[in-house]
Amino acid sequence: MSDCNTRIIAPSVLASDWGKVGEEVRRADEAGADWLHLDVMDGHFVENISFGPQFVSAVRPHTELTLDTHLMITRPDKYLPMFIEAGCDRITVHVEADHDVSATLADIRKAGLQCGLALNPATLLEEVTPFFDQIDLLLVMTVVPGFGGQSFMETETMPKVAEAREIRNAKGLGFHIEVDGGIDHRTVEIAANHGANVMVAGTSLYKAPDMPEAILAMRG
Ligand code: DX5
Ligand code: ZN
Repeated sequence: MSDCNTRIIAPSVLASDWGKVGEEVRRADEAGADWLHLDVMDGHFVENISFGPQFVSAVRPHTELTLDTHLMITRPDKYLPMFIEAGCDRITVHVEADHDVSATLADIRKAGLQCGLALNPATLLEEVTPFFDQIDLLLVMTVVPGFGGQSFMETETMPKVAEAREIRNAKGLGFHIEVDGGIDHRTVEIAANHGANVMVAGTSLYKAPDMPEAILAMRG
């Protein structure tokens, strides 16, 4: 298990060609990705609908990479068993969603998976600090969730990344800090300098002319 000081590159399948998703998953694997990021959207928590547990099951046999599943859904607790069954390795839920956050995080861990907690750009860090000792990963959204291809929201989000790292280290905790949205070879260094180590990228990797090179550039 890599620690929170290791830079991890996680392409977001949302930006891939879904008509050949098996090939696209293998392409990211062969291009040197560390994790695969799966963006689940329910059209209620976010203004878009993407895919569900059956899509995760379809992806699973095509790679050994860690499936880093981002549930942008209102009731992550209700659908958790289906995503666990589908083969997720890590499940991240939103603090803004309609569930008992501690209970959901505990249920993810009880299933033997790593758990993550996400906060949107407008959400204050104080909303998630009470859960810092219950998580394996903090996802600081760097765009408003729902769509790929948006611009990196530096001023609203980087102070939260820096403060999260400070609090984590002061408490002797070891959770990953993940950023997600508008991450490319330029913004990845801004995020890393503030304390992020898991870099989710959809457009800048899947739309790159040379994915292996784009992943290498993202490693700094
Ligand atoms: C947005 C998703 C992100 C998005 C990233 O709601 O959570 O993972 O797919 O896409 P890019 O890298 O294109 O901003
Ligand atoms: Zn995501």
